[in-house]
This record gives sequence, C-alpha cells and structure tokens, in this order.
Amino acid sequence: MTEKETELRIRAAKAQENIGKTQKGRYRCKYHLMPPTGWLNDPNGLCKVNGVYHVFFQYAPEGADGSGMRSWGHYVSKDLLCWKFLGVAIYPDSDTDADGAYSGSAVPEDEGFSLYYTGNVKHKDKKYDYISDGRESNTTLIRSKDGFSFGEKKILLKTSDYPENFTRHIRDPKVYKTEKGYEMVLGGRMKGDQGAVLFYESQDGEKFTLREVKTTREKFGYMWECPDFFEMNGTKFLCVSPQGVGEEKYRFQNVYSSGYFSGELKKENFYEWDFGFDFYAPQTFFDGERRILFGWVGMPDVPYDNQPTVKEGWQHTLTLPRVLTEKEGRIIQSPAEELKKLRGEEIAKGQECECCEILLDEISESAKAVICDALEIEFKANETVFSFRSDAGRGRTVRRTDIRAENVRIFLDVSVCEAYINGGERVFTTRLYPERYTLEVFGCRAKRYAMRPYTVEIEIKDN
Ligand code: FRU
Repeated sequence: MTEKETELRIRAAKAQENIGKTQKGRYRCKYHLMPPTGWLNDPNGLCKVNGVYHVFFQYAPEGADGSGMRSWGHYVSKDLLCWKFLGVAIYPDSDTDADGAYSGSAVPEDEGFSLYYTGNVKHKDKKYDYISDGRESNTTLIRSKDGFSFGEKKILLKTSDYPENFTRHIRDPKVYKTEKGYEMVLGGRMKGDQGAVLFYESQDGEKFTLREVKTTREKFGYMWECPDFFEMNGTKFLCVSPQGVGEEKYRFQNVYSSGYFSGELKKENFYEWDFGFDFYAPQTFFDGERRILFGWVGMPDVPYDNQPTVKEGWQHTLTLPRVLTEKEGRIIQSPAEELKKLRGEEIAKGQECECCEILLDEISESAKAVICDALEIEFKANETVFSFRSDAGRGRTVRRTDIRAENVRIFLDVSVCEAYINGGERVFTTRLYPERYTLEVFGCRAKRYAMRPYTVEIEIKDN
C-alpha cells in the first residue's frame, strides 16, 4: 500500500463513522431515496440479482455540498419499497481512484455481479486545464459474489488506452451482456470539444477492445456523460447526458441535459427524459421483466440551490423507479406499479399533506394547479408551463413543455415533486421548499391520496 493509500483509508474510515448519524430535518423525503447524511448524485450499478435490487449511487458522505470523497453508496431492496442502506461499497482509497470512484454500472453474473466504474485521478503538482491534461480515468472492475462484499479493484483500461482523438474526459462505463459476450459504452469529450461515446466489446468482461466511436454529424454539446444503451421492442436507444447544448424554448432549458437518441444520432432525434429543474445523469437496468430508470433529482452548476437541505446536512435524492415502455420510437416513463402499495387515504379538500399523490384530469384549456402555494402549473392548448411564484423554488423560475396535458399524476414528497403528464409521455421533476402543503386547482378535477413512507433501515458494516 502506498503512503497516499494509507492516508485515503484512514480518511474513509473516518467518513464511515459519520454515515450512520442520520439527522432529522423538515425537508427530508419519505419515499425517495436520499443519503442518510451528505451528498448524493448519479444512480450507479443498478441491478437485480437473486431477487434483490441493488441501487448504488455517487455519494460524498463527508459533506452535503459534495466536497470530500466521492464514493459509491449502496441501497438494497426486495420490493422497491422497503430499503436497507448498507453504507459505502466503494471508497476512492487507491492510487487509481484517489479523486473519486466515479459513476458506473453493474452486470449480473452467474454468481453475484460485476461493477464497472471510473477511477478518477487528478494531478495537483502543476497547473493543468484538466481537459487535455492533468486527469486520469481508470476503467475499473470489482466483482461481488454475494452482492454485499466486494473484491479487489482491477484496472481494465487506463488513460493511455483510449483513442488519440479524445481529451482526458472519458468516463461512466455502462456494461451489459449480449449474445456474444460483453459490451461497454463510455462517455467522452473529443478533442475539438465534441461529445461522443465509445463502444467496446469483450469476451470475458475484462479484456475490452474498442469497436467504434459514435457521435452526431453536427456537434451536439462538448461532453456526453453517463451513457446507456439498450433495445426495447426492436428499437435501439442510445442515452447520454450532454453538456453544452444551447437552450431552446421547449428543449434544453437546463444547464446540462439528459435524454436518448431514437434513430440516427442527430439533435432532432434526441428526446429529453425530464423537463423539470432537477434531473440529470439517469441510468436504466433490466430486472428480468421490465426496464427501470432511476435519475438523479439534482443538477450540477445550477443558478438555484438546495440550501434548506444543506443546512440539514444532506443534499439531493434519486427519482422514483420509473418503468420504461416503447411507443412509436419514443419512451414512456411510469412510476413502478409497486408504488401503488404506498397509496393511503384520500385527502379532503383544504387539508394540507406533505406526502401525497395528486391526480388531475378533465383539464380544460385554461386550467391551472397551484401546489403548496408555490409551484404553478398552467395548462394551455399547446403547452404545459411550470413556474415558481415564491422563494420556495430557491431561484428556480420557469420550465415549459410543448404538450397539451390531458391528465397528470403528481408525486409530492416533502421537498421533491415529480409530475407525469399523459401517462408518462412527459415528466417534470423539481425540488421545492414550501411553507405549506396545499393544493388549489382551477378548470380541472383533482384527487389527492396520502403516500406512506418507504421503510428505510440503516445497516453499516465495516468494509
Ligand atoms: C455526472 C458525473 C459523472 C461522473 C460523476 C462524478 O453527474 O459528472 O460524469 O462520473 O458525476 O460524481
């Protein structure tokens, strides 16, 4: 072990002590996965193995602002409703991942699963731009036989193995099995600042060779993060989270975007997953029956904030598990059926409720819903507009989507709101920090049901 590694392990042990200390807080969520303490970003390593769902996530246990060690947190569940938090599965405690065990994925194996991630290393001894130099990305493999203990880190690809026409920004391996073996897609930034993905293949899941680089003919952002690739109903979908795509009235309204290409890779064929303020870097997996997506309810580098939760010692959540289906080359997202089991009593008009499911229908052309006296949804002939009318948005302003809403299913969870329009044709996700949990509607019909919380246990073992 190098001196640096000893130092990193001592630090990891200290961070570990902090994790179990669940804090109390007014804005903590009840049925969205969140970090017990500290910072969460991308969902990672999603899989179902031996009847157990594993949801890993980018986790910085040392600081709610995202500072400190970027590791992999680990939740497990048998039913997507009762969750156990098992602490940190991967710490960045080696020379090959000293500056972060960055995003990656899981592949179910005959016994257990394999985890693939990017070991991020930043050289700090001289001035670098960290784009063309000063950064290493080690594609790393860890195998787990039982899903709960993790083997040695094995480096599969290092910086010198990637193609010459890429900058140092290459990361977030999504690996999946095919009839022929394994395939891996990595996200990257080419020289000349164009986002692209790299497809690799392998027989044994360890020795990967580059098959092709894919990008758009015309530049579509400078970097593509967190790629994903799957086929549904005979249609192939390449998903990426592009950075640097210019804003349009109804598209790319956030600082970074995320969505999928359906058909040839070009801007017109790119469809965003979510139209809200807080959604980025999603990942999908097949659970044996259906393809499920979890996204990060959060965004980097935004002009708004989540200070109310940072003060409570935590930041960000994951979305609800969304089941994906294909319809005419597009993807429909609907909350997993299991969530219906959390549905409780109907809430009477005028009563406040911080955890509820809201159903809107019979929506007229000038209808409006106001959630928590803060978030206004305007239903128009050709668009649906979400805007904050108070500080409860912490700097969030307005987002539009060009769809006529016929029905909306809204999940409100204390400080997270996900709205599924027309059975999941469009989704809108945001954080909000209201004073009151009211609902007012004009020109539409509304029903509200209380939502019961997830069961979350914390069980942390030393690893
Ligand atoms: C996306 C991302 C990934 C990276 C991870 C680091 O949000 O930037 O590209 O692996 O976060 O936490």
